[in-house]
Amino acid sequence: MKRTLFSLLALFSLLTAAADEGMWLPSLIASRIDDMRAKGFRLTAEDIYSINRASMKDAVVLFDGGCTGELVSPEGLLLTNHHCGYDAIQRHSTVEHDYLTHGFWARSRQEELPNKGLNVRFLVRMEEVTDRIAAGETPEEIIRRAEAEGEGYKASVEQMYYGDQQFLFLYEQFDDVRLVAAPPSSIGKFGGDTDNWIWPRHTGDFSVFRIYASKENKPAAYSPDNVPYRPKKYFTISTKGFREGDFTMIYGFPGNTQEYILSDAAEYIATQSDPAKIAIRDGRLEIIARAQESDPALRIHYAAQRATIANAWKKWQGEVLGLTRRKTVETKRQREEAFARENSRGAELLREMKAEYQRIMTPYFAREITVETLRALPAKYTDEERAEAVFPARRETERELFRWLFGEYARRCPAQYQVPVFLDGVARSGSPETFAEEVFEEVWAGAETPLSDSLRNGSKRMLDHITWLLGTDRLRNLTSRRLNDLYRGYVHELRTTWPDHPYYPDANLTLRVAYGAIAGYEYADGEYHTPLTTLDGIIAKDNPEIYDYDIPQALRDLYASKDYGRWGVEIDGRRTVPVCFLASNHTTGGNSGSPVLNARGELIGINFDRTWRSTMSDIAFDPTICRNIAVDIRYVLFVMDRIGGAGYLLREMKIK
Ligand code: ARG
Ligand code: GLU
Repeated sequence: MKRTLFSLLALFSLLTAAADEGMWLPSLIASRIDDMRAKGFRLTAEDIYSINRASMKDAVVLFDGGCTGELVSPEGLLLTNHHCGYDAIQRHSTVEHDYLTHGFWARSRQEELPNKGLNVRFLVRMEEVTDRIAAGETPEEIIRRAEAEGEGYKASVEQMYYGDQQFLFLYEQFDDVRLVAAPPSSIGKFGGDTDNWIWPRHTGDFSVFRIYASKENKPAAYSPDNVPYRPKKYFTISTKGFREGDFTMIYGFPGNTQEYILSDAAEYIATQSDPAKIAIRDGRLEIIARAQESDPALRIHYAAQRATIANAWKKWQGEVLGLTRRKTVETKRQREEAFARENSRGAELLREMKAEYQRIMTPYFAREITVETLRALPAKYTDEERAEAVFPARRETERELFRWLFGEYARRCPAQYQVPVFLDGVARSGSPETFAEEVFEEVWAGAETPLSDSLRNGSKRMLDHITWLLGTDRLRNLTSRRLNDLYRGYVHELRTTWPDHPYYPDANLTLRVAYGAIAGYEYADGEYHTPLTTLDGIIAKDNPEIYDYDIPQALRDLYASKDYGRWGVEIDGRRTVPVCFLASNHTTGGNSGSPVLNARGELIGINFDRTWRSTMSDIAFDPTICRNIAVDIRYVLFVMDRIGGAGYLLREMKIK
C-alpha cells in the first residue's frame, strides 16, 4: 500500500515536471497550448505565433547570428545579454573610452553607436516544405523564391528529426543595429568565470541596442538618415514580481541539442570526449592563469581567451557530473532494449546504428583531439599582435602552450590518425615537447617555414580524411551521414511506437518556445536552492581585492542609502532589489538574451545561463535539476535608472 502510494506520487511528479522538457516549434504551438494553459499561461497560440497579425514572434530576434534579443519599445529598442553585446562593446572601447570597464550610456539618439557586421533577424514565417521537396522542388529553389518576397529577406531550409521533416524559415534581416547602453563589466559580467554556470548568481548580464530602418521601416544598410525601427510588436515589462511555481516561458533561438542520441553516444561524451577535452583545457588554463598572475599586462591580454576556454571547459564538467548522476547511459540503454523488444524495425535500426558507432568513434575522437590541440595553436602571430607592447612578455607562455598541446596530441590522439609530419618530427627531435620548441621558435620568429606549414597542411589533410570517413563535417555531434539516415528512421519509429512521449526536434538555431515555472531545486542532499537572488547577495560577495567581485562604488552607495525607488521590493522584512532567478525552462546556448515571459506574455527577465550540473539537458533533460538562469528585469531597470541615469530609455518602454 505504502509502496503503491509512493510510486503513484513519483509517477505524478514525473508527469507534471516532465512537461517542462521541450523546445517547441512556434508554428505548431497549438499542440501544446492546452498543457501551457493548464500550467497557468493566459494567452493563445495565435498570441505566440501568427502570420495574420502581430504576435510575440515579431518581438524576438536572432541577435548577431548566435544569441537572442527582444524588442521593448515602439522605437526599436532591444535587450540582450552583456555577453552577447560584448564584441560590439569591446570594439567601441579604447583606453580613453573604456566602455567595457565603465559602461556606456548614449545620452541621445545621436550618441548611439553603429556596429559594422552586426545584424538581427525577425522570423517572417516558417512553413513545412517536406512535401514540396518530396515532389521535386530543391531547397535552393524554395529559398530563392522566398527571399524574392521582400527586401532584406533571408531564408533557409532546416531539417527537423534528422530530416524526417523540413521547414522553410523566412527572416527579415536588419543590418543597422546600434549600441545604446551597457553596464560596467563589474555589473554585466559580475562574478566572471568564478560564478559562470553557477547558482546562486548575481550577474547583471544585459545590454541595450536599437534597430534602425529606412524611412519606409524596411531593412537598410547603415545610414545617418535611417530612423528607429517601428516593430509590429514589443514586450510589455512587468515589475510586479513572481513566486516560485509561477508559469514562465522563453522565446528564442536555441543552438544545438542531441536529445535522441543512443546510449553509445552519451557514453562516448561522458567517458571519452568530455574528460579528454577537459584535461587538455586544464593544462591550457593553468598555463594562462600562471602568466596572468605574473604580469598585469598578461592578465588583460589573456582575459577574453581564457573566458572562452573556461566557458566550455566548465560546462563539460557539469555535463559529465549530470550524466553520471542521472545514470543517463544506463537509462538510455534500457529504453533502447525496451524499444527493440516492441518494434522489430527499430531493433534492426538499433543494431545498424551501434555498428556504425563502432566504425566512426575512433576517427571522430581523433578529430576532436586534433581540434583541441594542434588546431588550437596559432599558425602565426599577426603583425598587429607583434606590434602590441605586451607581445614580448607572452613568449614563455606561448612556448608552454605549444609544449603542452603537442604533448597532449601525442598522448591522446589515436596513433593511426596522427599526422605523419608530426610523428616524424617527434621521432627526429626526441619528444613531442622538443619538437614543440622547434616549431614554436619558427612561428615566434615569424618564419614562413616548411615545418609549421607542413604540420598545418598535414593536420588539415587528416581532418579532411576523417570527414570523408564520416561523410559529414558536422563537428559537434558524434555523427556520420549514414548515422543521420539511420536516426531519421529510428526517431520516426519511436514517435509512432511510443506516441505519448512529448517529441520535439533537436535545437538547430531555429526559433523555439520553451515553458516551465519559476523553480528552485535540490542542489545536494538536504540543500535546497531557492530561485531568487538579491542585491544583498551582491554586497555579501563584494570584494575590491577580487577582480570578479569588485562592484562599482555607485552600487555600494545605493545599497547604503536603500534609495531603490520603484525597483525596490520587500523580502522577509528587508528592502532590497531582485537580481537573478531560476526557472525550469528547457534552454541551451543561443538562448542567451531570450525574453523570459510570465503567464500574460510580459517580460520578467532575460535568460543568460544554466546551472552547472544541468547542462546535460542538451542530451537528456531532467526536470528535477535542469534550470535556466535569468537576470530579473527589475535589476536591469534599476541599473539603467540608478547607475546609468538612463531614465529617458525607461520612458520609451511600457512598464507595469
Ligand atoms: N555560460 C554562459 C554561456 O554559455 C555565459 C558565458 C559568458 N560569461 C562568462 N563568464 N564567460 O554563454
Ligand atoms: N550562455 C549561453 C549562451 O550564450 C546560454 C547558456 C546555456 O547554454 O544555456 O547562449
